[in-house]
Amino acid sequence: MAIRIDDLGKAVVEAQYAVRGPIVARAQELERQGREIVYCNIGNPQALKQKPLTYLRQVLALCEYPRLIEEGASLFPRDVRETAKALLEGSKHGLGAYSESKGIRMIRDAIADFIRDRDGIDADPDRIFLTDGASKGAQSALQILIADPRDGIMVPIPQYPLYSATITLMEGRQVSYYMDEDQDWRLSRAKLDEALEQAKKEGTRVKGIVVINPGNPTGSVLDEQNVDMIIDFARENNVAILADEVYQENIYVQGAKFFSFAKAMARKSVTDVSLFSFHSCSKGFLGECGHRGGYFEIRNIPEDVAEQILKLQSISLCSNLAGQIATYCMVRPPRPGDESHQLYVQEREGILSALRERAGIIAEGLNAIPGITSNTVAGAMYAFPRITLPPGKTDSQYCMALLEETGVCVVPGSGFGQLPGTAHFRTTLLPPTEKLREVVEKIGKFHASYR
Ligand SMILES: Cc1ncc(COP(=O)(O)O)c(C=O)c1O
Repeated sequence: MAIRIDDLGKAVVEAQYAVRGPIVARAQELERQGREIVYCNIGNPQALKQKPLTYLRQVLALCEYPRLIEEGASLFPRDVRETAKALLEGSKHGLGAYSESKGIRMIRDAIADFIRDRDGIDADPDRIFLTDGASKGAQSALQILIADPRDGIMVPIPQYPLYSATITLMEGRQVSYYMDEDQDWRLSRAKLDEALEQAKKEGTRVKGIVVINPGNPTGSVLDEQNVDMIIDFARENNVAILADEVYQENIYVQGAKFFSFAKAMARKSVTDVSLFSFHSCSKGFLGECGHRGGYFEIRNIPEDVAEQILKLQSISLCSNLAGQIATYCMVRPPRPGDESHQLYVQEREGILSALRERAGIIAEGLNAIPGITSNTVAGAMYAFPRITLPPGKTDSQYCMALLEETGVCVVPGSGFGQLPGTAHFRTTLLPPTEKLREVVEKIGKFHASYR
């Protein structure tokens, strides 16, 4: 007899991932029927016409087809050819062979340099693991931490559903802590303590806290005091920090700045809080989601635990090699004086300034609609506006109706978690600027009629 749904583990069946849930399935169905759909449901920049960086694609092309390093001199800048050559030498056997489980050493060295330059702190290439996107890194960290069904991981609400879904898969407990919407989604010590106390009462052993900075879906950027506060909380309560920092380049408003947990921990000389920090090629100005590149760095983790992390990595042999090359290009871009530098800077600034403009358009546009309020979109790629719904309606019904009527595909707030009694949706700011203006206008008209 063929396998039946009842044969599956409960954890698999119960895991939820709203970003690609029933609303998206319906959007795809409508698209097949010929409707124009604007996909604002997922942070997938190149699916919304963002152009790949020339430098990155040129390096990748040469690594995939090394003959062009010599024969393509008229097509590829000198520094690109030199970079590809060095990467192939560093990889030893090219892109078709497995690498070390942690990833190519030369790339891990470049990541360590990137962290040193970014934060002014030391970084150890042996404590860096290349992964297929940040998702795989977060999953490894959660797998390491969840050892028992009573083990809990603190997760922000609203959160990116990678965390809730993976905790369900690993059969751990999600311990939700609320971010404060009225304070631009800041974290408060009181809310962390409250969540922890409640978890303890329920017999949960809290092992880690996830922090997403800049925030998905909130679009908020944590200030230095907030980062310090979380480190103090983690230290006092003996929990590891999982710092999801994939949007570190996506900061749009004056005064907002990215503070890494690694830097804050070094500044405070904290050596007794374990830290996993994640970065990715999918976001920032690269938007190379399909290349599945990323890494995580560990700090304050004893050698025997690090060995177990390495063992986990080695079970899948290594992360994909093209993603590793993309990660190298992220952390080691062309330098002033390199032939490809000028174009690189021009493309980077073009993408970031368009995102900055759209962050303003979406927040202002949504705030102008009666019944919708949005915080400033300070970072990341999303707005998470609060909506007033007619009695008896849910945010999922709202988003489905929005899709059916306008072709705009967004994700209901319930997919990320929200304070009971409130309703939201998440939209990306990724559609091309004119399209985004149309999206805002369509949401405005729809909202007025829905109420
Ligand atoms: C907060 C956050 N973390 C991790 C990821 C996963 O990214 P990746 O493509 O690197 O797996 C995403 C993707 O949207 C995200 O928003």
